[in-house]
Amino acid sequence: MKKIAITLGSIILLAGCNGNPFTEKGDVKQDEQASTQNQKEIDGIENDAGENKQNNNDVSNPESTKEDLVLESVFFNEIADVNGKKVIQNPTNRMVLVNKEYALPDGYEPEDLVRPNVAFSFGDQDIEKSYLRKEAAEALEKMFTEGTSNGVHLFAVSGYRSYDRQQQVFTAEVGRVGEELAVQAVAVPGYSEHQTGLSMDISSESASFGLTEQFGETTEGRWLQENAHRFGFILRYPSGKESITGYQYESWHYRYVGVEAATEIFENNLTLEEYFNIVKKI
Ligand code: DAL
Ligand code: ZN
Repeated sequence: MKKIAITLGSIILLAGCNGNPFTEKGDVKQDEQASTQNQKEIDGIENDAGENKQNNNDVSNPESTKEDLVLESVFFNEIADVNGKKVIQNPTNRMVLVNKEYALPDGYEPEDLVRPNVAFSFGDQDIEKSYLRKEAAEALEKMFTEGTSNGVHLFAVSGYRSYDRQQQVFTAEVGRVGEELAVQAVAVPGYSEHQTGLSMDISSESASFGLTEQFGETTEGRWLQENAHRFGFILRYPSGKESITGYQYESWHYRYVGVEAATEIFENNLTLEEYFNIVKKI
């Protein structure tokens, strides 16, 4: 069992990381796919004129209002200052807020990663990016099944990413477009939601399985915008909220937070950052 110890004054965090099936595989094919994915991701970001339906809707009669929002304290980030970095001490929290301000602990790997039984853009390959944490994976299966029942055929493209994989993606992007542009699209290693195992990039055949803004304009992308919250997912990086999330619009990036919070976030047209600024801790 590998243990990670972060010491800050009297704070010691021990995070077990045993049983994770992912180590460096030297899988060139996988790397090529990820590189292509990253390329598509950036391509899609170059034109940010796309409108996001979920987050530009006026909600005239939301079931929850911003004033009502409450959340148990266990779902808030617990933060420790580690060498000047704000490091999350409870990274297994399903509502964990990972962004440019809050980092995951060094070496964090979720312990309950599973491969959801859904269609993948890369077929049946059993590779790191096909995995999600169990609760998110089950919710994704339900969402894809209901989509299929409605003639909406979704494809999972990229889920869990280890710190090392994020490093590769980030370094490649910096090499391609330079650091200033890269940080608008790809998280610095340790600061990516993909490392939590709670996020999945999703696309469709109608969008050529690409991670592009165009996906948000397809039947599948629109169905997700309107329905993902019912399964506990939110569109994490909406159009028009770039200055709040710190990232360009990503029509394909869905984050699991649980049905209740996802519904409140959807109905109130919030980002996760805005939600945590508003919600009362109970
Ligand atoms: N593209 C998102 C921000 C990530 O790299 O995690
Ligand atoms: Zn993503």
